[in-house]
Amino acid sequence: LSHYLISFLLAYLVGSIPFGYVVGRLFFHKNLLILGSGNIGTTNTARVLGWRIGLVVMCLDILKGSLGALMACLWGPLTVSQHWLYFAVGLGAILGHTYSFWIGFRGGKAVATSVGVLLIYNPLMFCLAFAIFGSTLFITSMVSVASMVGFTLITLASALIQDWFLTLIAFSLTLFVFYRHRENIHRLKTGHERLIPFGLNYWR
Ligand code: G3P
Repeated sequence: LSHYLISFLLAYLVGSIPFGYVVGRLFFHKNLLILGSGNIGTTNTARVLGWRIGLVVMCLDILKGSLGALMACLWGPLTVSQHWLYFAVGLGAILGHTYSFWIGFRGGKAVATSVGVLLIYNPLMFCLAFAIFGSTLFITSMVSVASMVGFTLITLASALIQDWFLTLIAFSLTLFVFYRHRENIHRLKTGHERLIPFGLNYWR
């Protein structure tokens, strides 16, 4: 088990690379921590640096989660009954992304990196998550709502296919994602949540 603790720490290190922040600082001389929503995730990167750069950062953040999960295979391939280790180790990457020591334990909202871990654990569920996210985003034009709805419905879908481990993980991540979106929830309640320039709510 101590081996997997090393995997977990390596996953944390991978997850803690604040790609949005690094790309903003290095290539655009802009500090995402003080611009827009102050978040270093895809949405704020897109808001401040344009949607193309936002998509690049989204891919990098998903990759961090996947790479983090794959750290579980450092000591040999996992058997099917050991697949839970993808999430146990991948959690390191999710925590690294949300509490990155490079930027004073600040970080993203756990969305893209969690989905990256899910991609390794269950690729079909990853596709479903993307479909739910995409359609909710198209209707609401709000990334925060799409993220929270996505995590909630993935929890329900995991229960439907009776993957109780994934149900427990998805439920915990849903709570965590809601917690990380508490400012967004406040803005939603007061009608001030930012829209992205895409989707029915924006075009109406
Ligand atoms: O997942 C992040 C997104 O839901 C919200 O980001 O920058 O609008 O707070 P932001």
